[in-house]
Amino acid sequence: MERKRNFSDVSISRIRSYLLVLPFVLAFVTPTLLSASEISTIKEDHVFPMFIKWHIYIVNRLSNNHNLFTHCKSAENDLGDHDLSPGSNTTWSFRTEFFQGTLFWCHVSKDDASATFNVFWNDARLFDKCGWKKCIWVVKDDGVYLTHLSTNCDELRYKWGDRM
Ligand SMILES: *[C@@H]1O[C@H](CO)[C@@H](O)[C@H](O)[C@H]1NC(C)=O
Repeated sequence: MERKRNFSDVSISRIRSYLLVLPFVLAFVTPTLLSASEISTIKEDHVFPMFIKWHIYIVNRLSNNHNLFTHCKSAENDLGDHDLSPGSNTTWSFRTEFFQGTLFWCHVSKDDASATFNVFWNDARLFDKCGWKKCIWVVKDDGVYLTHLSTNCDELRYKWGDRM
């Protein structure tokens, strides 16, 4: 005789199917909610990033009188080659036209090494470190540092030889 499905069988199978979708909910829905809340924090605390004028600096702080060669770009702009004498910098500014999508990166080289790395991308943690206006990348003998504008501390972010 066929066993009839009773109420508790039905609810158990329903619970089972909930448990099956749970990993997908955690994997896909949670990050979406988190990034949505991140964006709303940005909106509350700051003018929407598209209205901010950003300044980027690449500073040569190599020792022993070494020059630094830089070539920075975004998808739309090529900032050209620069040969920076010790202590000098190259700088440019732009407005983020859309919240998503502005990415600048640089290739830098000295006598014996080079590195390629991002200097501006869509990241609230980066924006905080840049004080929501100025990203200062300081190139030293051991790698490339990002200056935290609020504390004036340099954080090592890339090593010589790194490529993106
Ligand atoms: C960049 O160079 C200019 C001109 O020498 C200087 O006034 C400015 O302080 C430098 N900025 C940084 C972040 O090193």
